[in-house]
Amino acid sequence: MKKRVLITRRLPDAVEARARATYDVVQHADDRQMPIDEVLETAKSVDALLITLNEKFRADVVARVPDNIKAISTFSIGFDHIDLEACKARGIKVGNAPHGVTVATAEIAMLLLLGAARRAGEGEAMVRTRSWPGWAPLQLVGQRLDGKRLGIFGFGKIGQALAQRARGFDMEIHYHDVMRHPPEKEKGAIFHDTLDSLLAVSQFFSINAPSTPETRYFFNAATIAKLPEGAIVVNTARGDLVNDEDMIAALKSGRLAYAGLDVFAGEPKINEGYYDLKNTFLFPHLGSAAIEARNQMGFEALDNLDAAMAGKDMPFKLA
Ligand code: DGY
Repeated sequence: MKKRVLITRRLPDAVEARARATYDVVQHADDRQMPIDEVLETAKSVDALLITLNEKFRADVVARVPDNIKAISTFSIGFDHIDLEACKARGIKVGNAPHGVTVATAEIAMLLLLGAARRAGEGEAMVRTRSWPGWAPLQLVGQRLDGKRLGIFGFGKIGQALAQRARGFDMEIHYHDVMRHPPEKEKGAIFHDTLDSLLAVSQFFSINAPSTPETRYFFNAATIAKLPEGAIVVNTARGDLVNDEDMIAALKSGRLAYAGLDVFAGEPKINEGYYDLKNTFLFPHLGSAAIEARNQMGFEALDNLDAAMAGKDMPFKLA
C-alpha cells in the first residue's frame, strides 16, 4: 500500500511524476493556496505533508497537526514558516530543500544588482507606457558595477554563488557571516567580523541571510545610516529582515540610491510605500523560479519524505 502524502501546491511535472510513482498523492488540481484549516483537515487522511513557504506552521498550527502526521517536508530552503521546536516536541520530522535554490537565487540577486544600478525598471516602464521621448545623454543614467564594493550579508551557498557572479562583473567582494569561511569558499572575498564594518564599505549591499530572531528587521534606519551615502541594496532572502518604513524613508530622501527587492514582509501584500518609488526594482519572489531549481527543490523535498516514510532520518533534516 502506498503511503498518502498531501502536496499543498502544484509542482513541476517531473516532481509530481516521482511523487505519484511513490505515493498516493492528495493535491488540488487548480493550484490554489490552501487555507491552513483545510491543510489541517486534509492532513487527517494522509501520512505526511509536502508544504511550501506559504503554509505557516507556527506553534498554534503545529499543535493542531493530527497525530497521524509523522513528517513535514518543505519545498523551500527557508524554514522560518515552521516552528521547529514545536514540531520536535510533537515528534514530527521536518526537512527542507536546501540546495536547489542556490544558483537561481544568486542569479536573481545579480539581476537585481544590475537592474538597480542601471535603472532597468524605470527604463522598462518608460518603454511600456509609451513615454520614451527618445535617446538623451542624461536619460536614466545609472552606474556601472565594476570596481564597486559589494557587501554580502550572509555568506552561505547563495551568498557565495552571488560573489562568484559578481566577480565576473569585476566587483570587489566583502562579506559578514557568523563565522569566517575557509579560503576556498572566500575566493578572495574580504571577511568583516562585524556587520558595522561590512556596512561601512558596502556601496552595494546584498541581504542573503536567513530570517531568524537575530536577523529579523536588522536592516533599519540605524543600519542604513552606516552604509555609504547613496548605497544600493538588494534583498533575495526574506522580506522581514527589512524595516520597510525605514527603507522607504531612505529611498525617498536619497540616503539609499536604489533598492532591488525580490522578497517582502507580508508578501504578496507589500508595503504601499514601495509602489510609487521610482528608485526600486521589484520582483514577486522570483529567486528560485527556474525549472532546474524547482525540480531539484522538489526532489530534495521528496528525498526527505522517502527517508521519513522508511523510518530513517531525513537527508535535509531540520527537526
Ligand atoms: C526558499 O526556498 O526559501 C525560497 O525563498 C523560495 O524561492
